[in-house]
Amino acid sequence: MSLDVAAIREQFPILKREIDGNPLVYLDNAATTQKPQCVIDALVEYYSLYNSNVHRGAHRLADEATRKFEHARDIVKDFINAPKREEVIWTSGTTEGINMIANGLSKLLKSTDEVIVTGMEHHANIVTWQQACKVAGATLRTVPVTDKGELDLDAYVSLLNENTKLVAFPHVSNSLGTVNPIAWLTEQAKKFDAWVLVDGAQGIAHGDVDVQAIGCDFYAFSGHKIYAPMGVGVLWGKEALLAEWPVWQTGGEMIATVTLQDATWNVLPYRLEAGTPNVGDAIALGEAIRWFDAFDHAEVAAHEQALMSRATELAKEFDGLRMIGEAEQKVGAFSFVLDQGHPADIGFLLDRQGIAIRTGDHCAQPLMARFGVPGTARMSFSIYNTIEEVELFFKALKKVHMMLA
Ligand code: ALA
Repeated sequence: MSLDVAAIREQFPILKREIDGNPLVYLDNAATTQKPQCVIDALVEYYSLYNSNVHRGAHRLADEATRKFEHARDIVKDFINAPKREEVIWTSGTTEGINMIANGLSKLLKSTDEVIVTGMEHHANIVTWQQACKVAGATLRTVPVTDKGELDLDAYVSLLNENTKLVAFPHVSNSLGTVNPIAWLTEQAKKFDAWVLVDGAQGIAHGDVDVQAIGCDFYAFSGHKIYAPMGVGVLWGKEALLAEWPVWQTGGEMIATVTLQDATWNVLPYRLEAGTPNVGDAIALGEAIRWFDAFDHAEVAAHEQALMSRATELAKEFDGLRMIGEAEQKVGAFSFVLDQGHPADIGFLLDRQGIAIRTGDHCAQPLMARFGVPGTARMSFSIYNTIEEVELFFKALKKVHMMLA
């Protein structure tokens, strides 16, 4: 069996759009995925039928909203195989999840401690730790990236030591598509009792995420990378850590008792969820995961690999194209530069043909510097992309190349 991509596409109203008379070819899925009708409906139903604040009201709407909101938490728990629902913390997205942990870490670090990140981070998973280390006077170390766009695993092992307090790395590189060996990386860090945070922004929609099998302490992701709305995400963390982690934001919901002088904190997950949460989007995220999880994961992976293989094949035949990132394990993102023209021009001229990609530094300036480029052109795939779209992309790119010569 293989995926019925045509039937999947039918569920995405936006894919019927035309851009200047051309059918939309949406290849910017690493930036954000499009939303199936059922997710849009979930959001509309929430605002049309039971919009209400959660955990607080004494009325029917509040009760319905609370039940659906907490049910969405259960859906996330099952999807990532979290041991406990209390470990699933709603955030606004990956960036907020990482900030939550980094902010707390800055209060726990000593000046002799070290934090390790990699040279392929999205800015959200490097600037956060830079700041935490600066506050504490601790040291930030980085794992180099090889010419193929993989992590230098020997260098990683040599960086780990008794002072390593936390290691953070991406599940999948947003710029290169490199799939990192996250369970192995975690296992190495655990030999030194370091905490491990995985930036799952690009991993969550491209493979099975089982936080227990990975063995990490924290896994952060964004809803909008997995067919849900923007503005909602999840930080999963081990209960024993989250229960003691320095609180992030303070305010309503996260407290147990308050006097004029002091306060005590609520239990998990609420102690890390200050203020009114993003109820409608969390419910829609639950629906997006329910929708996505109904597909055979092996079929999804095979489809995405077929897209990547065809893109790689066509890129290798393309005179003047340099691929940036040729890792053995790649998913989702495919970056390149041309010998003629700035990536921004490539993106502009492709858009005129209805093709949507991202160009620039992809919020990964250190990685661009590593490859000696100001930025790349990046196409990125999702469940609804087709081989025909990949072929169309390269046809359009030929035209762009000629225009820029
Ligand atoms: N982090 C998103 C990307 O890689 C926005 O495009």
